[in-house]
Amino acid sequence: MPETNYRPRRAVLFVPAANEKALAKLPSLACDAVIFDLEDSVAPDAKAAARERLRAWFQARPKGGPECIIRVNPLASEWGTEDLLAARACAPDAILLPKVDTPRDIHDFDDALDEADAPENLKLWIMVETPKAMLNIGALAEFGRNRAARLDCFVAGPNDLIKDTGVLATPDRRYIVPWLLQMVLAARAGGLDVLDGVSNTFSDLDAFALECAEGAAMGFDGKTLIHPAQIGPALKAFSPSAGAVAEALAIRAAFALPENAAKGVISIDGRMVERLHLAQAERLLARAGRH
Ligand code: COA
Ligand code: MG
Repeated sequence: MPETNYRPRRAVLFVPAANEKALAKLPSLACDAVIFDLEDSVAPDAKAAARERLRAWFQARPKGGPECIIRVNPLASEWGTEDLLAARACAPDAILLPKVDTPRDIHDFDDALDEADAPENLKLWIMVETPKAMLNIGALAEFGRNRAARLDCFVAGPNDLIKDTGVLATPDRRYIVPWLLQMVLAARAGGLDVLDGVSNTFSDLDAFALECAEGAAMGFDGKTLIHPAQIGPALKAFSPSAGAVAEALAIRAAFALPENAAKGVISIDGRMVERLHLAQAERLLARAGRH
């Protein structure tokens, strides 16, 4: 995607589709995107009512609001087909498919969307949250290079990964960081966006800010959230800092000088700066809205 089309996904809030009060709160929240959840946060008995709530919400969807994504249940589950049809009818920006294990899961879902006459611009996001998905991560990311496929974004699912593997959940996430980095690497290989997983503790915002900073340092595009109080820290951590913007502007200005027009490498303040750093700087400036 050209950087001028950059769409921020710094703060991406999960909202249980069954929770009317939380849905009503959305217009007052400044997140970049909302994931309406029909899966794990909705009890089996509440699935049908949650779908109806979503239909009503999307019918009255305000224009120009955040990007809207619906997380459905897996296609093979007892709710999968009805979720897919309800989500398609809502016309969200993307559908988020959980519990993806293999490339076949993406093929099958893409086919089901085509059969449901889903528009071409409806994107597919997937949860990376199972041991099999981790083992297949390179093959999953390949879909990002296939123009006919809808895949656009990976979402890390630490709660399921911890449950399925048995690693210890620690505040510094030391046992899952290798997998998180693997997701970022694969996403970049496939030209996909990649979002860090949720933090279940929403009362300690200092710890949360630290986790956001780590996610940004690992290269994630943003973080998935479970509570409105987490939006502010995520926006801050995943926006370029004033220092980083100033540095990028300096690189742009240096390469714009006539004497540097033909040079591949220059020095700024005792540091080697190559054209790849200019490209990196331009990407950062696009993210900061400074085209
Ligand atoms: N989206 C929108 N609004 C939310 C919200 C969310 N994810 N979580 C809480 N709110 C709202 C509440 O409705 C409440 O609104 P009010 O000011 O009108 O009363 C306000 O924010 C404060 O909420 P609070 O009382 O602190 O939390 P809670 O006890 O109502 O809810 C959770 C706590 C964890 C149950 C709730 O945040 C939640 O369901 N989060 C999402 C879970 C989810 O989607 N999981 C699946 C992905 S991992
Ligand atoms: Mg999950």
